Amino acid sequence: MPFRLLFVFLFLGCATLFAQKLKVNQDRLENRIMELAKFGLQENGETERVAFSDADIAAQQWTIQKLKDLGLQVHIDFAGNIIAKREGKKPALKPISFGSHIDRVPNGGNYDGCVGSMASLEVLEVLNENKIKTKHPLEIIIFSNEEGGVMGSRAIAGHLGKSALSVVNSTGYSMGEGIMRLGGDTTRIAEVARKKDEIAAFLELHIEQGGTLEKENIQIGIVEGIVGLKWWEVEFTGFANHAGTTPMNSRQDALLAAAKFIIAVNEVTTSFKGAQVGTVGEIQAEPGAPNVIPGKVITSLEIRDLSSDVIAQVYEAIKTKGEEIAKASDVQIEFRALDTTADPAIMTSAIQDAIGASAEKLGLTTKRLPSGAGHDAQDMAMIAPTGMIFVPSKGGISHSPKEFTSAVDMANGAYVLLQTILTLDKNLN
Ligand code: GLV
Ligand code: MN
Ligand code: MN
Repeated sequence: MPFRLLFVFLFLGCATLFAQKLKVNQDRLENRIMELAKFGLQENGETERVAFSDADIAAQQWTIQKLKDLGLQVHIDFAGNIIAKREGKKPALKPISFGSHIDRVPNGGNYDGCVGSMASLEVLEVLNENKIKTKHPLEIIIFSNEEGGVMGSRAIAGHLGKSALSVVNSTGYSMGEGIMRLGGDTTRIAEVARKKDEIAAFLELHIEQGGTLEKENIQIGIVEGIVGLKWWEVEFTGFANHAGTTPMNSRQDALLAAAKFIIAVNEVTTSFKGAQVGTVGEIQAEPGAPNVIPGKVITSLEIRDLSSDVIAQVYEAIKTKGEEIAKASDVQIEFRALDTTADPAIMTSAIQDAIGASAEKLGLTTKRLPSGAGHDAQDMAMIAPTGMIFVPSKGGISHSPKEFTSAVDMANGAYVLLQTILTLDKNLN
């Protein structure tokens, strides 16, 4: 029937036009990134917004208001995560969740975590503007204290143990104190845990933090897996004594032993085949005076790999070497494992495919790659089908004020996030 056929074509034409009209607002997204960047900005140009700081709490409150302005139901859960919900057409369906974090490493950059968080708001803006109601409920999660041990996502995945609550970050607050400061409640953390498969899918958009996408001129990275990471505190105990009167052959210099240890961490980690990494990134020496031999030193130790077994093997080798160094230096050494562990995680292959298809539909180039950085998505992968979208980092730099991702790349990422959510909404039950 020609008239009915014409009607069908008209309808399909309008639908295609409508789909093409969905567009993220690049300027709005970039402006939000710049607004968020003001929280913690110091007079010297550095930004301090480590989790639990006043700046982190102010940024949290600002984000909550923005989410409320989008018409979402917002609350802070008992682990200090921001949870924002939007109803779906079929409320009985499990939610599609997405988000990232807004806390930063000391003197970090404006994009790590912030791009995925602000792009999640942008996705909601576009859905609202186009009056699109998804079948599934949607949920934005802005995770608490990602940089200090993926705290909020571990709580949601149900494995933030009691010992984690005593780990202190550079603000001087422990996780337990920090959770209370953020508006959570340490006595009720267990209630935050979601059951496996309570969430239909979880997506996180993030900057790559490495240089692969930029070098190869690729617009979108599809993450295949995320490395696991473990942290230790290593304490060297020597004897603090006069630097002028104690002969060189009668010292118990804790800092000298720590210095040898730092070199050993690099050598031992490198001696293994593979892509594992080992780092000492923090050191404190006591009493800390030019004329006193250091009696006590505490360093950090971090090891990452896609395999937990490799992390364990590298650690054992480092520990053995550290004990040899301590013995030869006449100091004591103690390794204390910190409860900040994130296990390696493989991203769900069907979600990798959905991200790839969404990017290709938008005419964007893609590459599958692993993540050497830790992310909340790795804990979410324990309880939900999970995928991660990467956008390029200029010069592969991150955890630095020099971190940069262009507005075009951020908008591409937000666009792929939006399209992937819509694809999953159509295809999942
Ligand atoms: C988190 O950003 C990490 O990889 O340390
Ligand atoms: Mn991050
Ligand atoms: Mn980070």
